[in-house]
Amino acid sequence: MESTAAGSATADPIDTLPASFRWGVATSSYQIEGAVAEDGRTPSIWDTFCRVPGAVAGGDTGDVACDHYHRMPQDVALIADLGVDTYRFSTAWPRVQPGGRGPANPTGLAFYDRLVDELLDRGIDPWVTLYHWDLPQELEDTGGWPARDTAYRFADYAMLVFDALGDRVRTWTTLNEPWCSAMLGYAYGEHAPGRRDLGDAIAAAHHLLLGHGLATRRIRAAATAPVELGITLNLATAVPATDSAADHDAARASDGLGARLYLDPLVHGRYPDDVLADLAADGVTVPVRDDDLAVIAAPLDVLGVNYYFGQVFSGVDADGRDRDADGRPVRRVIPRGRPRTAMGWEIVPECFTDLLLRISRDYPGLPMVITENGAAFDDHPDARGFVADDDRVGYLAEHLRAVARARRAGADVRGYFAWSLLDNFEWAYGYDKRFGIVRVDYDTQERVPKRSALWFRDTVRRVRGRG
Ligand code: NOJ
Repeated sequence: MESTAAGSATADPIDTLPASFRWGVATSSYQIEGAVAEDGRTPSIWDTFCRVPGAVAGGDTGDVACDHYHRMPQDVALIADLGVDTYRFSTAWPRVQPGGRGPANPTGLAFYDRLVDELLDRGIDPWVTLYHWDLPQELEDTGGWPARDTAYRFADYAMLVFDALGDRVRTWTTLNEPWCSAMLGYAYGEHAPGRRDLGDAIAAAHHLLLGHGLATRRIRAAATAPVELGITLNLATAVPATDSAADHDAARASDGLGARLYLDPLVHGRYPDDVLADLAADGVTVPVRDDDLAVIAAPLDVLGVNYYFGQVFSGVDADGRDRDADGRPVRRVIPRGRPRTAMGWEIVPECFTDLLLRISRDYPGLPMVITENGAAFDDHPDARGFVADDDRVGYLAEHLRAVARARRAGADVRGYFAWSLLDNFEWAYGYDKRFGIVRVDYDTQERVPKRSALWFRDTVRRVRGRG
């Protein structure tokens, strides 16, 4: 219950979500499928990166993961038990088009064909993400995302998937979190392919966006039935720690490189001047050509928002200096002192409301769906494998309330997908961090719904049931 200014009690904000609200769970190919060398799949950059000593915690790999490739029908049954209407999954490029060039691999595509049919048989809408970070290694060997050609290769691959599944799949996300692909992969070296060069990262960001635009245009032109096309961005709020000019600038710069570098070209067809100036100060330019920006700004039907945290920024270091040892402006995250998830991320649901309202204000007319939100906590299964994850229930409930409040204040948010259906391969953290609402015992591959799954099922049932 929530109190109004007048002191009277109102319903839980979650119960103000409309019966038409879209409910889902999300996963991605490399994080759950396993079967990395089966049926013609070739290595992705993550298969390679996992073999770099020290790159992934515990030396974990996606070789087996949740073995979803062999357990897909049971996993779809789990989704159906949750009562959600949508399942967001990604197709693995090296499974569909081994090596990233040339014809489709019919056996690889057949897996997604069966998955789509299985979902539809159970009344669940398939929502396909075309790229969730598993670039074919061969394309990295010829330059990866910093190479312009990769954008064209992506559009070709997207059409192979669309040609095979487009008769049954209505909603398509081109890219998942291009900031992560570009910055974690090519600037910070924390994700595959593990490169560390800001110029490469910015070229990667531009070519990811170009690939998105090229694929969007081609799918739109080929579609014979209504399609919903979009992209998913990881977005966080960045607020200044104080009113100082340095803190404001640190927040501006972080928001610029994290959010506006993507949203502005996608929606407004231009890169933000202040971000271009920041990059120029580092000797980096965006390799824009010809009508790239018009391609990138292809109309979007839906913006996928992935939200996990919001951050406070300071522009000075602990000693009060506003430049680091290399003479660059200081951009420092200041803890709020709030509880954290097992990832070390502070739990700040109110920033979620702020973020959704900010997107509505700065990028009006763009319907949003929360394509990911969720949390890793240290789960403690009982003897039957059941996890009473009240911390995760609390996280999901508070964030759903934040979404409902944003909607009430005018944000056009049309759905919410929990990350994730299953515990899975959490990238550089390996299997240690568990985001699932369903527990996976990696020794036996047994799945046990956690308390959060039961809570999610009941919440979906209650809200949808009002229709
Ligand atoms: C966003 C990514 O899309 C997903 O792959 C990842 O597991 C979650 N964040 C949690 O870090």
